[in-house]
Amino acid sequence: MSDFEEKVREALSSPKNQGELADADAVGTVGSPDCGDMLRMWLKFTEKDGKKVIDRASFQSFGCQTAIAVASMATELLKGKTAEEARELSANELTGDLGPLPPMKIHCGQLVEGALKNALDQTPAEAPKAVGTTISDS
Ligand code: FES
Ligand code: FES
Repeated sequence: MSDFEEKVREALSSPKNQGELADADAVGTVGSPDCGDMLRMWLKFTEKDGKKVIDRASFQSFGCQTAIAVASMATELLKGKTAEEARELSANELTGDLGPLPPMKIHCGQLVEGALKNALDQTPAEAPKAVGTTISDS
């Protein structure tokens, strides 16, 4: 077994951030014409030091193990990134500790990248912010 496959197996033993994020700000879905797999990603943003950053990300995958392992890694490493920083990550960077994707598995990483970009496209430019007035019953 290659180093990559070994790491994918390890990641699959405890995949992170699986399932819908009920309070997500954005959701992206993409399907792979290469293999018929589908992946959905949810993003939740927060405000940190005056910047809008990803607070949490989650995914659901209907398909291959590599895509699940990459999505698990990706949803971890997206935390704290701005939408712009997230958009710049390539499929190979989203794999994190798994390392570069073997040629046969590149489209699995691209599936994750595609779902992420799709979610970023759905992300409102500004998270709704509290303004200077508050409503009280008095
Ligand atoms: Fe579909 Fe890889 S071919 S999961
Ligand atoms: Fe198609 Fe992995 S083989 S996403």
